[in-house]
Amino acid sequence: MTDATTPIPRGRILVVDDQRNMRATTALLLRGEGYTVSEAATGEEALGVLAQGRVDLLLTDLKMEPMDGLTLLKRGLEVAPRLQAIMMTAFGSIESAVEAMRLGAYDYVTKPFKEGELRYRVERALERAKLQAAVDNFATEFNQRHGLSALVGRSQAMRELTTRLLRVAQSDATVLIQGESGTGKELVARALHAHSRRSGQPFVPVNCAAISETLLESELFGHAKGAFTGAVKTRRGLFEEADGGTLFIDEVTETSPTFQSKLLRTLQDGEVRRVGESTALRVDVRIAAATNRDIELEVKEKRFRQDLYYRLNVVMLRVPPLRERLEDVPALAEHFLQRSNARSPRPRRLSATAVEHLMTYDFPGNVRELENLVEQAAALAEADELLPEDFPLRPQGRVLPAASSGQGLPPTEARATGPESSGPTLAEVVEEAERRAIVQALERHGVDLARVADELGVSSTTLWRKMKRLNLRPPAGARE
Ligand SMILES: Nc1ncnc2c1ncn2[C@@H]1O[C@H](COP(=O)(O)OP(=O)(O)OP(=O)(O)O)[C@@H](O)[C@H]1O
Ligand SMILES: [Mg+2]
Repeated sequence: MTDATTPIPRGRILVVDDQRNMRATTALLLRGEGYTVSEAATGEEALGVLAQGRVDLLLTDLKMEPMDGLTLLKRGLEVAPRLQAIMMTAFGSIESAVEAMRLGAYDYVTKPFKEGELRYRVERALERAKLQAAVDNFATEFNQRHGLSALVGRSQAMRELTTRLLRVAQSDATVLIQGESGTGKELVARALHAHSRRSGQPFVPVNCAAISETLLESELFGHAKGAFTGAVKTRRGLFEEADGGTLFIDEVTETSPTFQSKLLRTLQDGEVRRVGESTALRVDVRIAAATNRDIELEVKEKRFRQDLYYRLNVVMLRVPPLRERLEDVPALAEHFLQRSNARSPRPRRLSATAVEHLMTYDFPGNVRELENLVEQAAALAEADELLPEDFPLRPQGRVLPAASSGQGLPPTEARATGPESSGPTLAEVVEEAERRAIVQALERHGVDLARVADELGVSSTTLWRKMKRLNLRPPAGARE
């Protein structure tokens, strides 16, 4: 079999030299090492090859006409910024080799070189290319994971949120993030940080509900050695750790008034005092705080200090519950499924009926609940295609007819299922999904019913019939 003897490609090298013999010998040697090698006789020709983006390492002669190696390197890095380069120089022209390294070349070899030396330098340069690629991928992945692109969902509500987020990210304003549990508040805080000028600095989350108040205090502010039993050495607090970056104070309403006043003082002064120390330290920290409670109510009922509320609530970002943006469900479900597929030996697909089924649910646990449902279904389903029965929904979470909005549609009357009923029938569920899809398409395309029908994949007549049956009136001025 040829497969067994063909060497695995180890890297793509472009050899540039105007001396034909030199070029051919070098290329031959490297091909023998298992590299994929292309050749160019001039700088111009080389640039054409580089522009195609399939070269990891440029190995070029310095002295060439009309374009010399230095110019080739400079222009090559413009078209292929990740390129690694080794310059081949004649004995005695070290100065240009050094200049080449200043421009971004990785290494140089002096001609005539020994085979072993070339082999070694090439291998090292390609090693670095690999490392560089890994670092770049990591940076992209980091951005995808923590930046805005991590926030899946293009509903109107999410678009408004991200626009607002991008606007405030530029400033240093304190942000209060409010939303029910599982709506994505922490993701929002991370995206805020990732899009701020502080993104190169730490993002430090602290969850006020997860630890006792004494511990929380020493976590946030740090403590002096001997400040309390167990404080065996001085410790920096999270405020200090976050210096230059963002401190995310999660579940901020789960704290006592005493703690709240200490936090307020720190925010007002821009200084922290470690527990048991009297000197204050200046810190430059952007604050994002989050709560899943109705914070105004907490203030009114005196469980949360009003002055701290004002201090935190410079900009409020509300993360809407998933039931108010059910149109995000398909994209989110697909996103979670892809993620689960990437880790699984058995990739799954979502059936259209399963997505419809999910869209009849009101997700009391919000996005986190959807995430869990998808992961469970992917783990337990019988078939590769996930069906409605793979997503067991809590009966009390079924959607009651949504209060529809705008576009001249009448509000749909709520049909209580009653506490003793065992949930809606299949027909009701289907009807509700239809109603929802139509209302949403109407909201998108307003009076243009032909487009609505088109988007829903039905004829205009069918659309009219369904709207009549569902008691949906066409918007004022609608045209067929
Ligand atoms: N828009 C979104 N796109 C992708 N994943 C999301 C989105 N919103 C939330 N998630 C995922 O859902 C889960 C819950 O999100 P997150 O922890 O940010 O919610 P939370 O509002 O902080 O919840 P809690 O109040 O319970 O702390 C996480 O796994 C998160 O990655
Ligand atoms: Mg959270």
